[in-house]
Amino acid sequence: MPFQHAQGSFTFYQRSTVDDGADPMTRLFAPSCLARTFRFGEQRMIRIAVLASGSGSNAQRLIGHFARHAKARVVLVGCDQPESGVLQRAWDLGVPSYLFNGAQLKDGTVLKELQGQRIDLVVLAGFMRLIPAELVKAFPQRIVNIHPALLPKYGGKGMYGHRVHEAVLAAKETESGITIHYVNEHYDEGEHLFQVACPVLPNDTPDTLAARIHALEHVHYPQVVENLVNSMQHP
Ligand code: GRF
Repeated sequence: MPFQHAQGSFTFYQRSTVDDGADPMTRLFAPSCLARTFRFGEQRMIRIAVLASGSGSNAQRLIGHFARHAKARVVLVGCDQPESGVLQRAWDLGVPSYLFNGAQLKDGTVLKELQGQRIDLVVLAGFMRLIPAELVKAFPQRIVNIHPALLPKYGGKGMYGHRVHEAVLAAKETESGITIHYVNEHYDEGEHLFQVACPVLPNDTPDTLAARIHALEHVHYPQVVENLVNSMQHP
C-alpha cells in the first residue's frame, strides 16, 4: 500500500508490526505518552531510532537486521524530508515513522519525542542535518553516523551524497570507503568506530563509486551497530 502523509501534522504513526515487547494496542496508536510499557521484572529491548533524509537503503538494512535480534529493535524511523524514500520503506516494513522539520530538531521537540519513545540508541543513516548539542548531550555515545568516505577526508558541512564521491573523484584518489563514528555537535567529527576502504577505479563515476560504497555500508553498518548494542546493558 502506498505511503501517505497525514495532513496538517508533522507527526504520524502507522500500525507497527515490530515486536518490541510492547502491548500491541499501545503500538497501534503510539503517541509517545502511550508508547510506554512497563514490564516489571523483565528486561526490555534496546530501542533504536534511525534518522534518515534520503532513500533509506541503510535504514532498511538496519530494520531487517534487528527484526529478530534478541536484544534490540528498530522501533522508529525519524525523517526531516517529506518526500524521502525512507518513509515508504518504513511504511512497507511496518516501522512507525516520525516526520519533523529543522526547527523542531533545533527547539528540542525531536529530543522530547525520542525520550518519550524511550529510545536508547540513535542511528543516523543518510541524515543531512546537524545534530544539536542538546541532543548529543542527552545521548552520550548513543548516536552514530555513517559517512561514505574515509574521514577525516571529505567530511564536514555540505559534504553529503554525491558531493562526497565527486570530490573523491576530482582529487583522483585511488581509494575511498566508509566511516562509522559517534556523533558530536560538529559534522562528521566524532570518534571513529569503524572504517573500511574500497578501490576507486579509473572509469568510476559518482554513481558507480556510490554503488560500491553503498554495498559496503549495507554489509557493515548493521554489524557495527550490533556490536554497539551488544556492548550496551539492557535498559
Ligand atoms: C549513505 O551513503 C550514507 O553513507 C550517507 O548517505 C547515504 C544514505 O543512503 N550518509 P541511503 O539513504 O541509506 O540509501
